[in-house]
Amino acid sequence: MILGIESSCDDSALALFDPGTGVRGHWMSSQVALHEKYGGVVPDLASREHLNNLPAMLGLIQGFLGETRPHSIFYTAGPGLAPCLAMGKAMAQALATAWYCPAYGVNHLRAHAYSPFLDFFEHSPTDFVERFYEHLPHLGLLASGGNTLLYEISAIGTIEILAETRDDAAGEAIDKGAKLLGLPYPGGPHIEKLAECGDSGYQKFPIGQNRQQDMFFSFSGLKTSLRYYLEAQTEEEVRQNLCHLCASYQEAVVQGLALRIKQAIRRNRRFRSLGLCGGVAQNRRLRAVLTGISEEQNLPFFVARKEYCGDNAAMIALAGYLERAALYENAPVRPSLPLTEQSLPKDQR
Ligand code: KG4
Repeated sequence: MILGIESSCDDSALALFDPGTGVRGHWMSSQVALHEKYGGVVPDLASREHLNNLPAMLGLIQGFLGETRPHSIFYTAGPGLAPCLAMGKAMAQALATAWYCPAYGVNHLRAHAYSPFLDFFEHSPTDFVERFYEHLPHLGLLASGGNTLLYEISAIGTIEILAETRDDAAGEAIDKGAKLLGLPYPGGPHIEKLAECGDSGYQKFPIGQNRQQDMFFSFSGLKTSLRYYLEAQTEEEVRQNLCHLCASYQEAVVQGLALRIKQAIRRNRRFRSLGLCGGVAQNRRLRAVLTGISEEQNLPFFVARKEYCGDNAAMIALAGYLERAALYENAPVRPSLPLTEQSLPKDQR
């Protein structure tokens, strides 16, 4: 049994993963309500909450484990908020000492990249690696509050970035747009809900240029265009057309993401699967548009189950298990660890 620990931002999460069967259980404690009134995550408050939540969840896990002791622990080493990462690592090391087992640092972004395969693992745990390789090279999109990355997985442990954002992340653009529209934080679920009854063609917002050489995402123009648009409207007009504006804004984010995916496929026809992960992957419109692309291109589509889209420990355990040969014990926390790197040993800090 493997224990996964996630504490990179405002979600405290633990997971038990059995290499023979997959995820045995995963637990998450969200802090959304705590940070909502500040309009974003407050790092010191978040780390204090991890200090309360992680041990409380450990109590639940111990009941579940009985006499079994995990043989490895994987914790998020980065990227993330330094005081929050430190809480997860401290817990991992304390448990490693108590259970006489190693604790390894895992790259949170790489864990997201593997998260669409958690269900696939459960379907075929014994020949997972072989079946996973049948779907490589894999083209994946990670869209969250802090990252927007298009990447290629060509082997377990080999992940290359194809495009990233020059300014805001997709989730950040959605949250900032939602704020301009007077919606609560985080804005994604609110925009999605209101968009359901709106017309996405009501207002055209910019989605970036379709030039082959421009392999990057950019969402700051979109946010600015919404701001200018709203400045020219009365409050009443905005209130009356809120659903249409949410649908139009959501559509611009989704089409901006889809554009680069199609471009990446046009550039490289070798891809054998398409994937979607990260908090924004919960968005039904985004899932539908990417499903359409995968069908059009005849590529199997792997999308993380909704509970595995946001930060979770099941993906940390899976990534740790898959990349374990290249990971470092007690790796230091690194707030700005890039997708392309595994965690580093202490002496390379
Ligand atoms: O991966 P995640 O949970 O953590 C961070 O990166 O912080 O992603 C959170 C992001 C937020 O920007 C949130 O607004 C967005 O994911 N999000 C959504 C939806 N649910 C969460 N965006 C669009 N539609 C959703 N249903």
